[in-house]
Amino acid sequence: MAVPRHVAIIMDGNGRWAKKRMLPRIAGHRKGIEAARNVTRAAGDLGIEVLTLYAFSTENWRRPAEEVSDLMGLLRHFIQTDIEELAQNGVRLRIIGNYKALAPDLVALIDDAIERTAQNSRTTLVIALNYGSQAELVSVMRDVAQRARDGKLDPAAIDEAMIDNLLDTHGLPPPDLLIRTSGEQRLSNFMLWQLAYAELLFVDTLWPDFGAQSLADAVADYGARERRFGGL
Ligand code: IPE
Ligand code: IPE
Ligand code: MG
Repeated sequence: MAVPRHVAIIMDGNGRWAKKRMLPRIAGHRKGIEAARNVTRAAGDLGIEVLTLYAFSTENWRRPAEEVSDLMGLLRHFIQTDIEELAQNGVRLRIIGNYKALAPDLVALIDDAIERTAQNSRTTLVIALNYGSQAELVSVMRDVAQRARDGKLDPAAIDEAMIDNLLDTHGLPPPDLLIRTSGEQRLSNFMLWQLAYAELLFVDTLWPDFGAQSLADAVADYGARERRFGGL
């Protein structure tokens, strides 16, 4: 059965998971990190080459300052506690999104983690952090426009491959399967270009309840689909 090379996940529902248990939202985010850890392990076991996890969007800054700071704290903690295991398990870490705008100590931790895992090749874990697809595309357009204005680029030479190469995801295959948890059916500014031909799967499971078996089920669902890419 076909295994998707690249699975991208919009991890949604942490807050609702906590609310159902009358716990603070951060308890849901904490559980959500556990789910991310389990799913990363499972992705390697299933032979998925690239796993992209949407962790923080450019719009998530609209949340209360306390929640934003809780999320950043959990992320800091995750990198510190998990980098060793990731490095040992052949996971290469990549970030998409403007993570350089985060706190300097967090940026340093992330850069160190990227460097430490750069030679790994079993699974690529892409974390979308301070990521927004529209911001990503705007930066590509600025780059292209600047080069055209400088006379270094003929607009007629702009093609899909050139755009691919300028995106944060350059060098990665496009997602074959997009999963969104928690029953919401929207993209929330996630990988608008890259998802052009992805298979979409919306599941009701809240992210903290999503585990290795949920990922295996999603992969089985994908395996039963027929992809056409516009052909017959
Ligand atoms: C996903 O869970 C985590 C992030 C967006 C950071 P939410 O925090 O969006 O949970 P709900 O949607 O409120 O349940
Ligand atoms: C999308 O979830 C962003 C992440 C999972 C990081 P949100 O919970 O922020 O999305 P909306 O606001 O419900 O669309
Ligand atoms: Mg949400």
